[in-house]
Amino acid sequence: MGRLNSVLLVCCLQTSWHLCRPLEQAALRFAVLADWGGVPLPPYYTSHEQAVAAETDRLAQTVGLDFVLSLGDHFYLSGVQDVDDPRFKHTFENVFSQPSLLDIPWYLVGGNHDHRRNISAQIAYSNRSRRWNYPDLYYNLSFTVPHTNVSVTILMIDTVVLCGNTYDQIQPKGPEHPRAADQQWKWISSTLASSRSDYVMVAGHYPVWSIGHHGPTSCLVNKLRPLLKKYRVTAYLCGHDHDLQFIREDDGSSFVVSGSGVVSDPSTTHRQSVPSSWQLYSSPVNHTSGGVAYFQITERQMSVEFMQTDGKCVYRAELPRRKV
Ligand SMILES: *[C@@H]1O[C@H](CO)[C@@H](O)[C@H](O)[C@H]1NC(C)=O
Ligand SMILES: *[C@@H]1O[C@H](CO)[C@@H](O)[C@H](O)[C@H]1NC(C)=O
Ligand SMILES: *[C@@H]1O[C@H](CO)[C@@H](O)[C@H](O)[C@H]1NC(C)=O
Ligand SMILES: *[C@@H]1O[C@H](CO)[C@@H](O)[C@H](O)[C@H]1NC(C)=O
Ligand SMILES: *[C@@H]1O[C@H](CO)[C@@H](O)[C@H](O)[C@H]1NC(C)=O
Repeated sequence: MGRLNSVLLVCCLQTSWHLCRPLEQAALRFAVLADWGGVPLPPYYTSHEQAVAAETDRLAQTVGLDFVLSLGDHFYLSGVQDVDDPRFKHTFENVFSQPSLLDIPWYLVGGNHDHRRNISAQIAYSNRSRRWNYPDLYYNLSFTVPHTNVSVTILMIDTVVLCGNTYDQIQPKGPEHPRAADQQWKWISSTLASSRSDYVMVAGHYPVWSIGHHGPTSCLVNKLRPLLKKYRVTAYLCGHDHDLQFIREDDGSSFVVSGSGVVSDPSTTHRQSVPSSWQLYSSPVNHTSGGVAYFQITERQMSVEFMQTDGKCVYRAELPRRKV
């Protein structure tokens, strides 16, 4: 075992110098992306989006990816019209087109821009693409860390249904269909209450906490944050602000923002809205660029690494396994 590890270490130092740590053997590995939805005019993508796709490809080829979580705003500015909308090709298929990415499943939830038009068409596209998995507005995922019995549950939630859409305003002003929102809140509570998994994550589009352009979402701070604490959720994952952030409250509640799919936004508008001791890292404050959040889950811990689009790992955080 010792020799195998040192062999692995050497090979990782050679091929994956950008990693903050060498590779764990038995790990579940995934990338979290959001807000990569291009632009509404030809060529329908940005160069930053291409760089994010290239970095995701490099992760798949060097360290491995079991899946991608895509947390909304897939098509700027107003989602898609129907399942035949050419934006699926121009903004998704033709950009995340590297051969290594074609067999990796994507699991998606909608963002505010997706909900401006036909969100059902994005769900229906699951039938047109082998890798696009968007079974419903909200749903749960279950995984096992390879070669172990360690279980991972991810609740994919629709924060636009929960909190409302945004058009000209920064904060959502409340759900458009309060009954649908209530139903989803009940599902979130009951699914979290019944989960015995070793790692539990909740993933949606709007942030709970963020120091960026949009800042914290009061609806989620008021209603979701207490559930995350009550059920000892390992981390809340989101996009919406176009940067990378790691925020950890004093009690260990952890929040990852990974929304720099289309651009890298230098805004720190809401720096005063989050206690400074909780702000462990953010790409705008720490003067790095956006990219991809890369997760590895093992028997012992979960790590999250912020990878810039030039392949450099600029931050690494470790989160403990839940005590069930
Ligand atoms: C939304 O897209 C679906 C799938 O293409 C289509 O059947 C439906 O008619 C569209 N809805 C609207 C309002 O265009
Ligand atoms: C996929 O197609 C099947 C068969 O036509 C249909 O029953 C199902 O509802 C479709 N799924 C989605 C997500 O549209
Ligand atoms: C979702 O959660 C329910 C209730 O905990 C569980 O029975 C089901 O297997 C889960 N489904 C997936 C796909 O993880
Ligand atoms: C997983 O659990 C089964 C049944 O409890 C046990 O037989 C097996 O050894 C466990 N495997 C690992 C890798 O822990
Ligand atoms: C990021 O910036 C904050 C605020 O200046 C600082 O406290 C923190 O140590 C920095 N983190 C890293 C990893 O450089």
